[in-house]
Amino acid sequence: MNTKIIIMANNKGGVGKTSSVAAIGDVLARKLGRKVLLIDADPQGNLSRRFGYSVSAPVDTTLEVFLQSEYDARKSGQPNSFSPSLFFNEATLKKPHSEVVSKYENLRIICSTPELQSVYETFHNDTNRAGSIIRRFMFNLKSSGVFDYVIIDTSPSLSYVLGQFLIGSDYLMVPLPPSEDAMDGAERVLNAFNLAADDKQDYEYKELRFLGFFFCNIAEKGIADRIYRQNRGEYWEEDTFFESTVPKSTAVLNAENRGAPVTSVFPSSPASWGYQKLAREIETRIREFEEGVRS
Ligand SMILES: Nc1ncnc2c1ncn2[C@@H]1O[C@H](COP(=O)(O)OP(=O)(O)O)[C@@H](O)[C@H]1O
Ligand SMILES: [Mg+2]
Repeated sequence: MNTKIIIMANNKGGVGKTSSVAAIGDVLARKLGRKVLLIDADPQGNLSRRFGYSVSAPVDTTLEVFLQSEYDARKSGQPNSFSPSLFFNEATLKKPHSEVVSKYENLRIICSTPELQSVYETFHNDTNRAGSIIRRFMFNLKSSGVFDYVIIDTSPSLSYVLGQFLIGSDYLMVPLPPSEDAMDGAERVLNAFNLAADDKQDYEYKELRFLGFFFCNIAEKGIADRIYRQNRGEYWEEDTFFESTVPKSTAVLNAENRGAPVTSVFPSSPASWGYQKLAREIETRIREFEEGVRS
């Protein structure tokens, strides 16, 4: 299987991006046996914490370390050094990464800390170098074929950097709790997606596609139908929504407090059932795209 890069984005915070990346990654790796790399591209580091990392127990495999060292190398005219296969080799991983490696056998994570913010600021001021570094980083991940899935958790801000991550991805997924704010946030990400999808044709070998919306943190039945009927424009068709939905469930917050994906610590909670269905549906949908059955 060739590597699929999925980016999870919504320009609104608190919609369920991080909880979803953690749970979907966990199901794909532990239940379905896929090799998964999660990338915490949000300087808040919430995804990293969801796998037991904290600022007080830093690791050397952080996104800011990768990006900064690539940037320094580029400035001094040296070639790119990131090696995805080295990254997957546990011998090269330090604690507490090794603890995650034993708990989540097929799953790796590139963590972030608040310092990522300053690397992003450097990149904003030097978009010439930054764009090619991010795109190359993702190109290397994809072409190495080490992972079946790479899933990127993003911060809610729409920035140049997010645009580059979009260009480097294959599929965009948008979590949608039933609120107007979340829908506006989704709409803004889709605008960025359209720009990135156009740009991508200039750089890469494949398309960036919209994998779909999924409802999460749903408290009330019938909300989904109401949103379909609103029909806000391009992409807001019933067909682009995943069938699986993730109900509101206290297990998600409890799992967050335990520093774990909900599917790992509360596997029989309603939210976990939703994520298990969703992960399978993601695989089916990607297959449909690749086979040309879906466009
Ligand atoms: N299905 C759910 N049920 C209950 N709470 C949820 C659910 N999904 C997310 N949450 C809660 O909503 C908050 C925001 O979720 P998070 O995944 O961090 O969103 P984002 O990454 O988009 O900011 C968290 O406190 C999380 O526990
Ligand atoms: Mg988040």
